[in-house]
Amino acid sequence: MKKRTSLLLLAAGLLLISCTKQEPVSAVIERGLQTATRQALLMAKELENQEDKFPKSVKPDGTLETSDYRWWCSGFFPGELWYLYENNPTPELKKYAEMYTQRVEPAKNLTNTHDLGFMLFCSFGNGYRIAQNPHYKDVLIAGAHSLATRYNPTVCAIKSWDSNKNVWQYPVIIDNMMNLELFTWASKETDNQMFSEMAHSHAMKTIENHFRPDFSSYHVVSYDAITGKAHIKQTHQGLSDESAWARGQAWGLYGYTMMARETGDKEYLEQACHIATFLMNHPNLPEDKIPYWDFNAPAIPDTPRDASAAAIMASALIELSQLDKGALGKQCLELAEQQIRSLSSPEYLAKPETNRYFALMHSTGHLPGNSEVDVPLSYADYYYVEALLRLKLILAH
Ligand code: GLY
Repeated sequence: MKKRTSLLLLAAGLLLISCTKQEPVSAVIERGLQTATRQALLMAKELENQEDKFPKSVKPDGTLETSDYRWWCSGFFPGELWYLYENNPTPELKKYAEMYTQRVEPAKNLTNTHDLGFMLFCSFGNGYRIAQNPHYKDVLIAGAHSLATRYNPTVCAIKSWDSNKNVWQYPVIIDNMMNLELFTWASKETDNQMFSEMAHSHAMKTIENHFRPDFSSYHVVSYDAITGKAHIKQTHQGLSDESAWARGQAWGLYGYTMMARETGDKEYLEQACHIATFLMNHPNLPEDKIPYWDFNAPAIPDTPRDASAAAIMASALIELSQLDKGALGKQCLELAEQQIRSLSSPEYLAKPETNRYFALMHSTGHLPGNSEVDVPLSYADYYYVEALLRLKLILAH
């Protein structure tokens, strides 16, 4: 009898351990990559015959929303396909990565947008890194020259938007940090220091004006085009001028981490660490570590999440963990892993063949504009896959 009781207790103990044991992170990563691959291939086939279309989101009526190459997100789907091809080099993934990358090419001549880094570096940049197609290099360099037309030496920054001229003379948004990798890359490839100098000036000007004492950031800083001084600090997609719009914080974190990697400059690494500290310790970061759309949203917890902000953050935190080898780097990696586990749970990761073939659910594009609220977004999927691959690479070493 005694023996039976001990056996029962042992079995119960083992059951409890197996129920509470976390899935190994390597299995989480593979599951995420498999789902993303399956969904991306279905999406690629869906739009295969619509020659200038890219997936964007899901409309309120449940149908797929697409864009052409001019939308700032055109590079994300081809970029995601390149990442998935890098992970699993099949001819089919390569065919679609090339097909959708080619669709972005006309963007190289755009001079009315600052988003060329997003559009070209995610698509052609990943494609060039992986496939070494020399034409891709030409496209990227042409794009870098187009982006350089938006740099003003008085302001020492790239102009983000041409609109709203009466209010904002020279608006620069925190998101613009993401375009600088096209410049750091172009500078190395062409030996033209103009690009790296522009990237450096823009990043330093942004440190000077976009950040509050707690290292949260404003969304829009408009400069006086004559004096080069900041004259207005506001929001566009956040709750209020003084709030911390979640994706904006993620762009800043990613941008300075990338600049630290590209330049080895201590100032950028310190900035990235400060932003990471602000985000990791924020009292409104929920238990599953997927931010609400704005850290200061008064309706928290009854307000939408932004899975795209979590994916961007996770990818940046993984990279930062490799640049800061101290306690903060370790904390960054732990938080990123938690975010990846959450994003890869049924709460956020779609069941294959649902979600209009996007991988992630629950992102928020522009809540104050009542646009893209609690929807899939192409950039959430791109940075999710990037984060999965970054973590996979670390685990392999
Ligand atoms: N760059 C625009 C956004 O993050 O929504």
